[in-house]
Amino acid sequence: MSNTFDEHIDRRGTSSIKWDITAQDELPMFIADMDFVSAPAVKKRIADRLEHPVFGYTKAPQQLVDSFINWFREEYDYDLKREWVVPITGIVPALSVVSNIGGGSSITVTPNYHMLLDAPGKAGNQMIRVPLHNENEYYTFDFEALKNALLPDTKLIYLCNPQNPVGRIYSLSELKQFEQFARENNLTVISDEIHCELLYDSKHIPFLTVEDYSLENSISFYAPGKTYNIPGVSMAFAVIPDEDLRNEFNRLSYAMGHPGLFNIEAGIAAYSESASWRGDLIEYLRGNRDYLESELGKRFKDARFTHTEATYLQWVNFGEGIDAGFIRKNAKVVLTDGKDFGAEGYVRINFGCPRDYITEALDRIEKAIANK
Ligand SMILES: Cc1ncc(COP(=O)(O)O)c(C=O)c1O
Repeated sequence: MSNTFDEHIDRRGTSSIKWDITAQDELPMFIADMDFVSAPAVKKRIADRLEHPVFGYTKAPQQLVDSFINWFREEYDYDLKREWVVPITGIVPALSVVSNIGGGSSITVTPNYHMLLDAPGKAGNQMIRVPLHNENEYYTFDFEALKNALLPDTKLIYLCNPQNPVGRIYSLSELKQFEQFARENNLTVISDEIHCELLYDSKHIPFLTVEDYSLENSISFYAPGKTYNIPGVSMAFAVIPDEDLRNEFNRLSYAMGHPGLFNIEAGIAAYSESASWRGDLIEYLRGNRDYLESELGKRFKDARFTHTEATYLQWVNFGEGIDAGFIRKNAKVVLTDGKDFGAEGYVRINFGCPRDYITEALDRIEKAIANK
């Protein structure tokens, strides 16, 4: 494996949210992008496109959709039909747009990706939040609680799998129960699978492959942003097998526009030319995951934390009063607060960075807690 993942890259002054809204003496480990060089094939393809001097309006080429379909076949041994795949500009705007489908409320679990939680509200629709069942920081669905929280007008259920921030990869049996719950309650499933390539412990199962109902009553989202570290070149895919649902999505998403010129090139390079880079990335991230988990156990006797099965995000409860505000003020490490995900008392640490950043962050946090 190459050791480029250890390299320190100065990202300040590059319009980076992570590095440009934090002070010089702060170490940012909040928003979910990585501090590594993005997948090299992406840079090459964008550079090649720059050789042509006209940057006009775009129409996503078949090559983009085919690169995604081929990747999907390789990963899951499953053939998506071309017409099911809709290239879009990003998952976040789409999470908001889809909340208008069915004209009712939506339901999901917490803790959960904050923009998934907030997206329906931004479109003027209600999102019902139901806590996951937490047993020693292992999070599972509580279908009884979900059932009790449904409203007469609930039409949609949002799934985040693998789950940000608790790092779960839901098993086939959990997804079958989820499908059954959706079927029994006539819910359409919005499945955000952006983290599906960042896996350490088991395989990801696309929701649409679970049962007939999940194929015909779901909208799934995929994007290269997380895995290939290109979230700044927004592009994603909605996969919508049902024709009526797809037509409704296309009607509602009119104002979202199409992926831009360089985003198209980035998508093709990510899905068709970056498999070996991804393999190296996963091995490095697995090392970070193991290192962080073991250091948390050794250094913070009162901390409770998940075993991260997927994503480069670690969910931690350091103890009473040690939230992201305390850590930022006293340790100069910037984390995301659990409140954003609908769970108080926790922080989320992004470990998609050179390993010595993790050591530095833990040193600072340990000192701050010792001086509390
Ligand atoms: C679960 C999840 N969905 C979507 C996104 C962002 O998607 P996009 O950049 O395509 O809008 C993120 C980013 O953190 C995420 O964690």
